[in-house]
Amino acid sequence: TYLGLDLGTSGVKALLIDGRQTVLAEGSCALTVERPHPKWSEQSPTSWIAACEAAIDQVRALAPTAFAALRSIGVSGHMHGATLLGDDDQALRPAILWNDGRAHLECAELESRADFRGIGGNIVMAGFTAPKLRWVKKNEPEIFGQTRKVLLPKDYVNLWLTGEHISEMSDAAGTLWLDVAKRDWSDDLLAATDLTRQHMPRLVEGSAHAGDLRPELAARWGVGAVSIAGGAGDNAATACGLGAVTPGQGFLSLGTSGVLFTVTDQFATNTDNAVHSFCHAIPDSWHQMGVILSATDGLAWFGQITNKTPAELTSMVTGVTKPSPITFLPYLSGERTPHNAPDATAAFLGLRRDHTLADMVQGVMEGVGYAFADCCSALGKSGSLPQTVIVAGGGSQSQTWLQMIADITGLTLKVPDSGAQGAALGAARLAILARGDGSVSDVLFAPRTHKQIEPDPGLTLAYADSLKAFRDAW
Ligand code: XUL
Repeated sequence: TYLGLDLGTSGVKALLIDGRQTVLAEGSCALTVERPHPKWSEQSPTSWIAACEAAIDQVRALAPTAFAALRSIGVSGHMHGATLLGDDDQALRPAILWNDGRAHLECAELESRADFRGIGGNIVMAGFTAPKLRWVKKNEPEIFGQTRKVLLPKDYVNLWLTGEHISEMSDAAGTLWLDVAKRDWSDDLLAATDLTRQHMPRLVEGSAHAGDLRPELAARWGVGAVSIAGGAGDNAATACGLGAVTPGQGFLSLGTSGVLFTVTDQFATNTDNAVHSFCHAIPDSWHQMGVILSATDGLAWFGQITNKTPAELTSMVTGVTKPSPITFLPYLSGERTPHNAPDATAAFLGLRRDHTLADMVQGVMEGVGYAFADCCSALGKSGSLPQTVIVAGGGSQSQTWLQMIADITGLTLKVPDSGAQGAALGAARLAILARGDGSVSDVLFAPRTHKQIEPDPGLTLAYADSLKAFRDAW
């Protein structure tokens, strides 16, 4: 059997599958995000390990015999987080996450010190790892001085599993220290951040064997020799879970962040539109994506304000026949694609005395749709926009939301028959590959998608006006 672990922003998921990819057991454990100052977003690395242990314990309790036959583990995780380790591999401070916007000034400084756009393939954006290290150097010099290794969140989980510092291409690309075309660390980009290769983990491909489970954990869990895969950043892992591995295939993910992802046949950049260009988790493959920083997070925030769950909020919006009179700008954590603006703020526009909570909820959901329309134009300018994409992420459980996104963007959305297991399944599939128990084409297949959501031409027309209003408000 094979275990996929997905370290998400809002929680860890564990998924145990067999060689035919039948799901044998699932476990999960919630995580919280600390926001001690405006624009900060942090998590304690020890909370990741506690959550992984809890999720794995659930899986072990549900399927003890199958777990005992474990052959390999793959880990996926939220990207870009700076996890700073001292000599003893203990975290020196909370990890600074992908949606943290504090390192704004440091972005321009780094761009003036090295060719990040050419070698790293991306604009230096505040959420990426490199500018965070420059922020730490300036604001917490003692911690910078004690830093021996910088790991990504899922690589910290891999350290716990194997005892080794290992990363892989898809997540490493999001640090901005990788030469994305060569799939190797760039000495220039590291030097621009006052770091060297010594600070970096060893690199493997996501689908390769990266290390072995520590004997201590193997004994605790009652398993034999277990391989650990390189794994993947959560978006490349989702692509593996959905079989998006050949050029032109893509997915739209409605998670805490929103992602429109397409596979490219080579390393190709589009920094003009703040498109992300990273390595895929399988060899010789790359991808582009538009990333919006608040997708389901907008609803989570609005739920906290109104004391309701996101599901209660979405259930207020049914049978949409026209756009909400309220336009919501979803920039609660700033924005990446297409604006690259960590300082951007969110807003409700057009409120009147007669408007209802349901109008506001519809506005929040549509705001995410408009932001995805902006990602579509950005990827359109790269020539990498597919017409049809598979959907993933917790928000894709809402048919109403998906229909809105199809109507606003004009994309056709394919809904997997069996729930939204994207990243954890992708991680488990990388575990199969890493153990040598299958080939890319056999293992990374697309899910069955009986339900297909087409844009409604009448609504697409109605939304064109409100999309214009949304864009004019920028
Ligand atoms: C991608 C990004 C997010 C995180 C969290 O660039 O920042 O999608 O990976 O899921």
